[in-house]
Amino acid sequence: MKILVTGANGQLGSEMRALSTVYPQYEYYFTDVQELDICNEQAVHSFIRDNAIDVIVNCAAYTAVDKAEDNPDICDKLNHMAPGYLAMAAEACGAALIQISTDYVFDGTSYLPYTEDMLPCPNSVYGRTKLAGEQLVLQKCSRAVIIRTAWLYSVYGNNFVKTMLRLGRERETLGVVFDQIGTPTYAGDLAQTIFAVIANGIVPGIYHYSNEGVCSWFDFTIAIHRMANICTCKVHPLHTNEYPAKAPRPHYSVLDKAKIKKTFNIEIPHWEESLEACIRRLNEIEK
Ligand SMILES: NC(=O)c1ccc[n+]([C@@H]2O[C@H](COP(=O)([O-])OP(=O)(O)OC[C@H]3O[C@@H](n4cnc5c(N)ncnc54)[C@H](OP(=O)(O)O)[C@@H]3O)[C@@H](O)[C@H]2O)c1
Repeated sequence: MKILVTGANGQLGSEMRALSTVYPQYEYYFTDVQELDICNEQAVHSFIRDNAIDVIVNCAAYTAVDKAEDNPDICDKLNHMAPGYLAMAAEACGAALIQISTDYVFDGTSYLPYTEDMLPCPNSVYGRTKLAGEQLVLQKCSRAVIIRTAWLYSVYGNNFVKTMLRLGRERETLGVVFDQIGTPTYAGDLAQTIFAVIANGIVPGIYHYSNEGVCSWFDFTIAIHRMANICTCKVHPLHTNEYPAKAPRPHYSVLDKAKIKKTFNIEIPHWEESLEACIRRLNEIEK
């Protein structure tokens, strides 16, 4: 089986690459924008056809949520149109497409974990373009799996965990919002789940995936500092309106994972367990 991973130098793409050594039975193509620009429709079609790709895992996206508010066209091209090109190319070759999406397709007004059948209502350019991408993929590809995830971090790339580690070491005090509730996702766990979806056999549809448990960004930061033995920085809780950002964020975006667990027979670690694993890996890299 031939697997194409696009956006392969990002957080999730890099975790897919790292984990691929555990699955030597597959043949891999890891591409980022230099090798395959997914906004180039013709290039996408040729690559997938010429290499007889069986499964595409699209990890490429415009992920700068605040910058997206000022760049809606570029964001739309990458998060909406390009997944459509991948979906059409997949359909033409009988390939499957695993498209990664986001909790930001929801407006965050729920007080119960979001299931896949709840109505999305994004309140940012990023969320709207990701939702449009989902819809196009489902429309164009009969073997499409959409995995919505949230609060992604990894040992690779830039992310909240790495920023809080740096700020925790640099500063004596730090304010972090406590009124946005969700669940972090370790990209290494998501990569494992993607391999489980492939090994199980594609069951088309939308699925939710994050780690287990619930926290605020404030709680997350406290846990990051505790696990990294950072005790010189006092973290205090902020309201969202005390930390203005260009794009609005959902106040509540906990995802219900029952469907993905049952369909693909997977277990999901609690976010604290996975955060510890990531911090251990970061410590090993720093040594
Ligand atoms: N990060 C989060 O907190 C989060 C939360 C929920 C869902 N998600 C979703 O999870 C997925 C993976 O996110 P991530 O954090 O791993 O993303 P990421 O680290 O930003 O990686 C995206 C990769 O795509 C590349 N790329 C940009 N334009 C491209 C193009 N035209 N063709 C091919 N590749 C291109 C980027 O390259 P450059 O760096 O050179 O631009 C980057 O290497 C995305 O679908 C995202 O929407 C992320």
